[in-house]
Order: sequence, then structure tokens, then C-alpha cells
Amino acid sequence: MSDPDVVLEARRRRTFAVISHPDAGKSTLTEALALHADAITQAGAVHGKAGRRGVTSDWMEMERQRGISVTSAALRFTYRDTILNLVDTPGHADFSEDTYRVLTAVDCAIMLLDAAKGLEPQTLRLFDVCRHRGIPIVTFINKWDRPGQDALALLDAVEERLAIRPTPITWPIGLAGDLQGLIDRRREDEVVGFSRAAGGATAATARVLDPAAMSQNSAYRTAVEELDLLSSVGAEHEPEAFLAGKATPVYFGSAVSNIGVRHLLDGIIDLAPSPAPRPTVSGAPRPLDADFSGVVFKVQANMDRAHRDRIAFVRVCSGRFDRGMQVVHAATGRPFSTKYASALFGQERSTLETAYPGDVIGLVNATALRVGDTLCTGRAVAFPPLPAFAPEHFAVLRPQDLSRVKQFRRGVTQLDEEGVVQVLVSDRRGEQAPVLAAVGPMQFDVALHRLAHEFSAPGVLEPLTYQVARRTDAAGAPVLERAPGVEVFTRTRDGALLAVFPTPWRLASVSRDHPGVRLDPMLDNP
Ligand code: G4P
Repeated sequence: MSDPDVVLEARRRRTFAVISHPDAGKSTLTEALALHADAITQAGAVHGKAGRRGVTSDWMEMERQRGISVTSAALRFTYRDTILNLVDTPGHADFSEDTYRVLTAVDCAIMLLDAAKGLEPQTLRLFDVCRHRGIPIVTFINKWDRPGQDALALLDAVEERLAIRPTPITWPIGLAGDLQGLIDRRREDEVVGFSRAAGGATAATARVLDPAAMSQNSAYRTAVEELDLLSSVGAEHEPEAFLAGKATPVYFGSAVSNIGVRHLLDGIIDLAPSPAPRPTVSGAPRPLDADFSGVVFKVQANMDRAHRDRIAFVRVCSGRFDRGMQVVHAATGRPFSTKYASALFGQERSTLETAYPGDVIGLVNATALRVGDTLCTGRAVAFPPLPAFAPEHFAVLRPQDLSRVKQFRRGVTQLDEEGVVQVLVSDRRGEQAPVLAAVGPMQFDVALHRLAHEFSAPGVLEPLTYQVARRTDAAGAPVLERAPGVEVFTRTRDGALLAVFPTPWRLASVSRDHPGVRLDPMLDNP
């Protein structure tokens, strides 16, 4: 049944993620955003990296320390009457396909750069995923309170390496390390100065400065000149270009001192898109006010050590979700009870009563749910499968205990279905020795652990030296198989043919020698 409130509720939501390289300041920025949004009263400097890394999300630790409302999958807060759902992208230690998949749950991403380091490898990889999925990107250049690169040079790097046009919204007065204020181009070049709070423990106080009084300040004059230069090359915000992923609004600041963070939050609300109707496999988007539907984008097992459980995180795509409602698991057609839906706030897992498009809900004990599954009420709906990403780690998997081969095979099939790892087979190696392929090596650890503990069928991995995979086709496979150093596999999940190469250089030389052979970096393109 159509519900007019749903469209209004969707309109006041923004669902986004922060993509960055480790150490750029994602945790600090997350806290600073929540601080501005009054979700917590004191951000406090982020301490003790060691404790925050590992299997548990950074946020769970934050939540433990500060008692703020955090799920391990999404942080939810209200600002200017807008509900912000900040979806966590797991950090370095557990970098894997999961990291990529959570990006399917957001409508926008903040690309966070360290002013000194600029574009770093993990940022580039995550950026590619956003681009592939058409997710608009807002850029925040962080750590302007300490020495770093030149602002214009950073913009040049973004434009050249990412082929996206940077359109600054705020502009720093003063070089990195000598930040004297920000000019806000969206507010007729309003100048904001900050009085630093001690240690960044609370938000730096911002005050509007009189440009006339700044006219003798050389840093201010330089900033104005730079802005004139930017205007002359047309670096102005254009909503269509941003939403099409062709331009990125840029903000400058310092997350640790809470400088520029409010501008960024305002940008997310004013510029970033609210949830839109999601395309279904039939091509027609599901209207926001259609019956409830949602997609599982993350499944986490054993979050609570006290009881072994499995939580499925669902991004609401359409309709209104009410806790307790009967939904249908689209893959099996079976009903699924949502009595145990929770927002997973804190250790208490406070119960969630209602949710709208853009929101993230956690379903406890969702053993039947897999990443990519759809839940719905009313007319059945299927959303396109989540993308599979190019693996970079490969290893042959063998059973340790030959008397447990049956259980071992069952385990491998299960892990394959869940998308824990990609399973590759070839005639050359035979079915007895499947090759596991992963985006991050931690996926292997998870696979081995689960084989040993859930199936009592421990496995042994023998690493292969391949580094790059490309999708090929039936015409290309025999040609590639004859190329020295190259192997071709069938991915069991979908029958895709993948060619793997020992190095990017080998890939380059093979594609030069065989220009007609398909070598597609997008593994999920049929
Ligand atoms: P991550 O989640 O992206 O890995 O980064 P995190 O927030 O943990 O920040 C990484 C380091 O960068 C931390 O320092 C943090 O304090 C610092 N940082 C974050 N934002 C800023 C900023 O705007 N300016 C400056 N100068 N530093 C910033 P650390 O020394 O590793 O930890 P800590 O002892 O300071 O907590």
C-alpha cells in the first residue's frame, strides 16, 4: 500500500560512507560529524589505534568508550532535521570484498584525503568502486592544521588521476599548517575563523569574520586570488555533474579540531542525494513508496560472544519497515519474521520500531540470509546481484583430513554461496583442488576458520603467485591458456571465465600480444 509519508521520510535521509586510506582520519571525522550533529557531547581525541583494529569495527570500540549510538554497520544521527546514516566501511585490517559491498548500501561517499599524503592506494580502489556504481563523491581534505601539500596541487592531482572535476566549496586561508580560516563559496564567500579548542576535545568555535578587516592579511589575499583563478577555469559546483559522478565538491578542514566539519555536514544535506527508487532486475526502479523492500549488504557472525549469532544488515530500499512485520525472503519465497529487528544501538541493541528508505536495520539470528538477498512485502521484487570484485590473492585449497572430504566440500560450497571467497576451478587442476580467490587476504583466514569450526573439516592453503584477474570469454580462454604464466579458471558462482596473471606487467604484455582477446577488469559484466 502506498504511504505518502515514505517519500517525505526518504527525502530527509542521507545515507553515505567515508572512503579513505587508513590513517587519513576516518574515525576522527566520524566522531566530529556526530559531534556536530549533537549525537555526542564530546568527541575527544581518538586514542589507542591498537585497540580499535581487528575483527571488531572501529565503531564498536568507539561506542564502548563513549557510549554513543553506533551499530557495527551504520551510525545514525540527526542534523538540521535530516537523518544521516553513515555506513561503516571496514578499515585496513579487514579489507575485503565486504568493504566494497557496503558501498552498495549508500547514496553518496565522502572521499577523505590527508592533506600531506593526497591520493593513496586504498582511496583509489574505493573511488573506482564508487565510480563503477555511479555514487556521487564529496571530497574532504583533512589535516589542514598541519603541513601538507598545496591546495591547488591537491585539486590537480584529483582531476588528473581520478578524471573527476574538483569544485571547491570551501577554500583554506593559509597554507596547510597555517590555517587561518575558511572561505565558504556557497555563502557569498563568507569568511569563517576558528578559535581552537584545547586538544580538539570539543568543537572549535567558528566565527564569521569581516572580509574588509582581512584585506591586509596576505594569506587571505592569496586565497582570494586562488578563488579567482578557480572561477576563471569554471570550477563551480554543478549539481548535475556532481550527481553524475563527473565533479566532486571539495571541502577543507581538520577533523581533529572540528574545523570545516560543519560545512561538510551542510554539504551532505544540501548537495548529496536522498534515497532514490532502486532499479530492479526488470529494469524498472521500485518506487520509494511501494511496499517494503530491502537488500542485505552485510552479514556478520558472532558479534556477540555471549551467544553465537548472525546479524544481517539490511538497507531499506522502499516502503516503511515496522518491526515485527512478516517479510518474504525473495530468494526462497519463505516468510521471515522481523521480531528481532534492531538498530543495534550500543551493547543493548535497542529495538528499532520503524525505518524508511535509506535506513539500515540489523536482523538478529538471520541464518538464512546472505549478502545480496532481498527482503520484501507485497509484490515480489529482485534487485540486481551485488557486484563481484577482481580478486588479488589466490591460493589452492586442500582438505587436511581426507576422511572429512564430504564435509569439506559442503563447507566450500557454503562459503562460495555466501560470497566469503570466490571459488575457481579448472580442468587442469581438477575439482579436488579448488582455488580460492579474494580481494583481501583476511577472507582466506575467515574461510579456513569457518571450515575448521563450522564443518570440522580443516583445510590447508597453498598460496599462488598471481596478482591480477581479468574476465575473458570462451573465445579468449584457449588463447590465454597458451600464454606462459597465465591460467584460466571458471568461477563456480556464476560460470564466469577468469584469466589470472602473475603481475600487472604480464597482463599488459599479454593484452598487447593479443589485442582481440577480451580482458575486462569488471568481473561482473556478463
Ligand atoms: P583512520 O580511522 O582513517 O585510520 O584514522 P584516525 O581517525 O584513526 O586518525 C589517524 C591519525 O590521524 C590519528 O593520529 C588522528 O588523531 C590523526 N588525525 C585525524 N584527523 C586529523 C586532523 O585533522 N589533523 C591532525 N593533525 N591529525 C588528525 P594518531 O597519532 O595515529 O592517533 P592519536 O594518538 O592522535 O589518537
